[in-house]
Amino acid sequence: MSGVVVIVPAAGTGSRFGGALPKQFQTLAGKPMIQHVTERFMHDALVSRVIVPVADVLLAKMKSSDRVRFVAGGETRMQSVIRGLAEADDAELIAVHDAARPLFSIELFHAVVDAAREFGAALPVIPVADTIHRMNTDGTVAQTLDRSMLGAAQTPQVFRAQILRDVLARAQREGIEGTDEAGLAARFGYRVRAVTGDPRNLKITIPEDFAIAESYLA
Ligand code: C5P
Repeated sequence: MSGVVVIVPAAGTGSRFGGALPKQFQTLAGKPMIQHVTERFMHDALVSRVIVPVADVLLAKMKSSDRVRFVAGGETRMQSVIRGLAEADDAELIAVHDAARPLFSIELFHAVVDAAREFGAALPVIPVADTIHRMNTDGTVAQTLDRSMLGAAQTPQVFRAQILRDVLARAQREGIEGTDEAGLAARFGYRVRAVTGDPRNLKITIPEDFAIAESYLA
């Protein structure tokens, strides 16, 4: 079955966040954050399968179904995505989505899918509101970047399957550890289309973000 296969890397330990479980497994508005993500994708007719790389310790506790498959993650986010790719053989398009972004909308996803069909690779981007400095290791400011040239990357990011495979294989060969597949694709010369992102599609990063996300989900 073709369609969009979605990979949701969730194998991080989330040590910065606190709590007994990684943040993506903590309860948000009544269910684990990861479940908000898998359910929204699963209910979308464009999506043929959702693949969730998780840490080995959690894998045994996860129940895979036809459309949601939990697989063993890797050492890094990128390695976890590569593990997920192995389960996406039949995909025409592959999406990669952060487990920590439970507020994405299907409209946004579809806009990125449409752009990826046309351009090969696409992601949502929002303008940067803060001034961004490149910093020195001693905590002083090295250089102020031109904000008009900056965009903050969100997910879901969507790729023609062949492009994502090529990008990740090249990154692996060249020893590059990317945290953003769209950035890697651009680095390797692919055209990557930016679509207008959604400020609500925030990445749950600090405990305070839980309350914000719950108010949006309510
Ligand atoms: O830790 P960080 O915020 O960079 O992780 C980004 C995403 O990648 C998280 O969803 C995390 O669960 C995932 N990840 C993973 N495998 C790893 C490390 C992180 O799937 N080994």
